[in-house]
Amino acid sequence: MKVTVIQGPNLNMLGLREQNIYGPMKLQDIHAQMENYAKQSNTEVEFFQSNLEGEIVDKIQECLGESQGIIINPAAYTHTSIAIRDAIKAVQIPTIEVHISNIYAREEFRHKSLIAPVCAGQISGFGPFSYHLAMVSMVQILSEIQAMQEAQQQQQAQQQQ
Ligand code: DQA
Repeated sequence: MKVTVIQGPNLNMLGLREQNIYGPMKLQDIHAQMENYAKQSNTEVEFFQSNLEGEIVDKIQECLGESQGIIINPAAYTHTSIAIRDAIKAVQIPTIEVHISNIYAREEFRHKSLIAPVCAGQISGFGPFSYHLAMVSMVQILSEIQAMQEAQQQQQAQQQQ
């Protein structure tokens, strides 16, 4: 099982950027924590960050046939990007939306996510720990899917006998 973690614009500046909102942790440290949990759960993980909307769309498309789950913090594109929403809808890969801050407790323009309706769920407001919660949830979703597929295969095999 492989999970792709996609980080949107300005998240490469975590640790420097608005520390009062996003805290002091750097992106690479967040990724190290996620990788640690993924390894314990026998899950491969790939990390990708881009400041460009089209590159994020390309990355989501590349997940097709490569990754079984996507964890995405679309950052500011959360509130504007129909293209990212359409890409997630197109690939039909279980996706979790993550935010470090509680977007509903901030400016009104952050209250609307165009991405959330095409995701399995959204995690928002737990600081960098939001990413860990997303990884735990994704491992759970993937193991449920795997169990369902195995049960279906068993049923088919029994029907053929
Ligand atoms: C963010 C929230 C967005 O509104 C903002 O544009 C970001 C980060 C978060 O993780 O809290 O860049 O996605």
